[in-house]
Amino acid sequence: MTPRRVQISGLKGGVGKSTLTLNLATVATRAAQRVLVVELDPQGNATTLVTGLYPDQVQRTIADVLVGFSEGQDPAELVAGTVLSAQDPAIDIAEFNRSAWGNLDVLPANQDVAGLALGPAHYRDLAKIMDAAGDGYDLILYDTAPGISSLTTLGAYAADSIISVTTPTANAVGGVRQLINGMITPVQQHHDVQLIGVVVNRVANRAEHRRHHDALQAELPHLLCRAWLPDRTVVEQAEGYGLPLHAMPGPSAVTLTDLYDKIFRYLITEATP
Ligand SMILES: Nc1ncnc2c1ncn2[C@@H]1O[C@H](COP(=O)(O)OP(=O)(O)OP(=O)(O)O)[C@@H](O)[C@H]1O
Ligand SMILES: [Mg+2]
Repeated sequence: MTPRRVQISGLKGGVGKSTLTLNLATVATRAAQRVLVVELDPQGNATTLVTGLYPDQVQRTIADVLVGFSEGQDPAELVAGTVLSAQDPAIDIAEFNRSAWGNLDVLPANQDVAGLALGPAHYRDLAKIMDAAGDGYDLILYDTAPGISSLTTLGAYAADSIISVTTPTANAVGGVRQLINGMITPVQQHHDVQLIGVVVNRVANRAEHRRHHDALQAELPHLLCRAWLPDRTVVEQAEGYGLPLHAMPGPSAVTLTDLYDKIFRYLITEATP
């Protein structure tokens, strides 16, 4: 069966796309599913968080897979030769971290990805690669760089669903609209992909956050995810330890883990935000 393929997108940087991607991934790995996170961001944050490897320490990346594919190499072999598994003993992380990530593979990225010349002729390449290489997975997630680029477009062509992440700021509604008009609608002319929800992250107990959240609710009622994520320092602590939230101690981590479970259920299992 073809696994669900979900892209996590957002116009702005630092809103929590990578954090959401990896914590949704572990909702699935904790349920004994096999998950692939494809990093479509030259920053390589998702790769670093899971593997402890900095971008310049990563030998092979999604760039090698895309170039190899365009040269006619076998996509399944390319992916198998490039993914990094949290379970691989060659990945030098603590056993606690290994078991916290579960059966998670990452198709890594670094600056090499930024150098790819990706025009419309390549937009279906990632989709074809995932058609050939995705069989062993129950879920494929694409973590993206902020904004709209040829890389995010490539991911959208390879996805059945898109989740947008935003913080509760003044331009949140405008940002989602720009993502829809600038990327999702154009891709939909050629490929069936749906925006399935907007997740609001880093919500503080402040009047202006409530106001911007209300604006999102009023403007995008059928897209706003019922579960939103509070701003909690434990998220940055988890990042520092290279762990998903479910492996962190304390009540805030429990709250967030419960919310990631809910977001997974609403958006990925039930597809009703
Ligand atoms: N709910 C939260 N509470 C507190 N800090 C958070 C929360 N979500 C994310 N963060 C922190 O915010 C920072 C940015 O998060 P993240 O890297 O996931 O964003 P991003 O959208 O992927 O960024 P980029 O656009 O650079 O890829 C990180 O340091 C992360 O730990
Ligand atoms: Mg990121």
